[in-house]
Amino acid sequence: MTEARQEVSLGMPQLPAPAYPAEVRARLEADAKEVIARYPGSRSALLPLLHLVQSEEGYVSRTGMAFCAELLGLTTAEVTAVATFYTMYRRRPSGDYQVGVCTNTLCAVMGGDAIFDRLKEHLGVGNDETTEDGKITLEHIECNAACDFAPVVMVNWEFFDNQTPESATRLVDDLIAGRTVEPTRGAPLCSYKETARILAGFPDERPGAVEASGGAGPASLIGLRLARGEEPPPRVVAPRGERPTGAQPHDPSPSEHLGSHDAPQQTSASDPDHPAGPTAEEGE
Ligand code: FES
Repeated sequence: MTEARQEVSLGMPQLPAPAYPAEVRARLEADAKEVIARYPGSRSALLPLLHLVQSEEGYVSRTGMAFCAELLGLTTAEVTAVATFYTMYRRRPSGDYQVGVCTNTLCAVMGGDAIFDRLKEHLGVGNDETTEDGKITLEHIECNAACDFAPVVMVNWEFFDNQTPESATRLVDDLIAGRTVEPTRGAPLCSYKETARILAGFPDERPGAVEASGGAGPASLIGLRLARGEEPPPRVVAPRGERPTGAQPHDPSPSEHLGSHDAPQQTSASDPDHPAGPTAEEGE
């Protein structure tokens, strides 16, 4: 790893923070004013502005916090309090790919803990640490509301569903080698800085990215079907080693547990039997 784990300082950042280069400052200031104009009170723009400065350096630096404070009329202590509260803001330089393994309850029992342990060993890093080549930062993450695809791995906040220790290992190997990886659903993967800019509220201009949708899965929608008086599917998940009711002979059994990195799976958005219509109405 590039550095030993550092304790997060909850106090004031050391001042004065170095200034952005003039060109960077001018560009960020124009972007920041566009963001601030969306809110009736400027301080409401703090969260997107923190994403904006994160899109510049890959983390929220002291310079970034001072920039946010200046433009919003806040103190650096107020900005620091927010930046240290939310885990989506990084406080130090990190990897190109943030690989988050959900180890919240359901994912943990479905294999998330095993995935995290395997990746720690494979990458030689611990939680919130970065590989020596600067490619991967590994971290525990909490539930991402994708429990019906457990266990879930997120890369730069894109979903990689139904993972196994083996598929997750291949995933990080592909990222390190620069091979293209496809999230199970949603937009194509982009860099951490690009993700931060999208989270700041700027459009994702990659062709097809906006149209790509990650909706609720069949297991999540059973309750909706019941509420509508519809028949739920006979069984969404069969016990390990058993074939789901109605499954064709070529269907993989749950015991094979194909992960998205092994073989992309259909999502509800492409499910012809989806009962709820467009997933944008129900699943998001
Ligand atoms: S527990 Fe992992 S997505 Fe919900």
